[in-house]
Amino acid sequence: MSIVGARPQFIKAAMVSAALAGREIGEVMVHTGQHYDYGMSKLFFEQLELAEPRYNLEIGSSSHGAQTGRILEQVERVMMSEEPDMVIVYGDTNSTLGGALAAAKLHIPVAHVEAGLRSFNRRMPEEINRLVTDHVSELLFAPTGSAVMNLRSEGIAESKIIVTGDVMLDAVRRFEPLFLRERGRLFQMLDLTERCYFVATIHRAENTDDPLRLRAIVDALDEIAMKIAPVVWAVHPRTRKRLEEMSLDGTGAVRMIDPVGYLEMQTLLTGARAVLTDSGGVQKEAAFHGVPTITLREETEWPETITAGCNVLTGADREKIVLAAADASGRLTPPAGFGGGNASGMIADAITAWKCGEEPG
Ligand code: UD1
Ligand code: UDP
Repeated sequence: MSIVGARPQFIKAAMVSAALAGREIGEVMVHTGQHYDYGMSKLFFEQLELAEPRYNLEIGSSSHGAQTGRILEQVERVMMSEEPDMVIVYGDTNSTLGGALAAAKLHIPVAHVEAGLRSFNRRMPEEINRLVTDHVSELLFAPTGSAVMNLRSEGIAESKIIVTGDVMLDAVRRFEPLFLRERGRLFQMLDLTERCYFVATIHRAENTDDPLRLRAIVDALDEIAMKIAPVVWAVHPRTRKRLEEMSLDGTGAVRMIDPVGYLEMQTLLTGARAVLTDSGGVQKEAAFHGVPTITLREETEWPETITAGCNVLTGADREKIVLAAADASGRLTPPAGFGGGNASGMIADAITAWKCGEEPG
């Protein structure tokens, strides 16, 4: 049984699901309903050829405790009726935590895709979700060497850790022909010239829920759009809500658009001069495309992108963000250390071996 609920999980699950189907492993997909707008959910199932989930629990939005509690209660009910051999969870959202906890308490083995990532910032809700999920999981699919080191240093048994590379690299490789084909049309529609615009995405609670940080980010994007090159900002619904509450609409220089589909986002990333983001997934994808990334956070779970010179951390410091944007240009060598684009195949193989009673690792 796979548990998904939020945008990045549909992308990761699409790859693993296809690999499981190729090995004839039966899968029941449960969508918690954490994300529910068409452009945050169904669009991804359509674009990534992911079958409709068997269950949609329609949990919706609420505080962390209420949302996680509802997920826990509802997925437990489904697990008790479906009796899966294993539960697969992805990443670090409240849906990940709810799925992992419910399964562990029913003594169903948990497999965690994207295990071992750490920001070492426990004020991030995702850090708590990752820590707990990793420590109740039986199979930990680590995307990078640094993720493996993190798990080892927390005393997780070596036999449970499997280094696979990154499933989002699999997705980029798999869908590249589709998103490259649409380049001309999308650039024309948005009136963009290749390498002469920036793409922005912002949704981390630390940025959206702190008025000073959000204002500094809006001011920085405005300044970049006015002085350097156009900025296209695909605004996450959480951020849209905060901007409205704070009546923060900037000068109008930034092109604020609704969230876009996976294929459109990859097309936008590949053509950008640089990317400004606090997203985990977007940091990696920009690096896979060789596009410079400016991460509006103090730390990252993907240190390989920094050491490869693809990514710089600016926090929410207006001056640093604008300077980094002015400096960013050209194409970079994509970082090593994210595997060979067959992480989902390795995950499906490990799950098959586990089902046949073989030791992981
Ligand atoms: C969640 C994850 C985060 C992940 C992100 C991916 C947690 C704690 N956070 O953050 O790790 O990076 O998803 O995008 O699980 N909303 C809508 N429509 C939707 C979904 C959300 O309007 O379809 C709005 C609601 O106002 C909601 C807010 O966005 O309250 C936040 O949604 P939520 O799923 O709680 O957290 P994200 O910020 O999306
Ligand atoms: N994404 C998208 N459309 C958007 C913004 C992001 O398709 O408007 C994709 C992005 O390319 C990446 C994934 O969503 O594949 C990342 O999700 P998000 O930033 O919401 O979450 P995170 O990765 O930070 O958990």
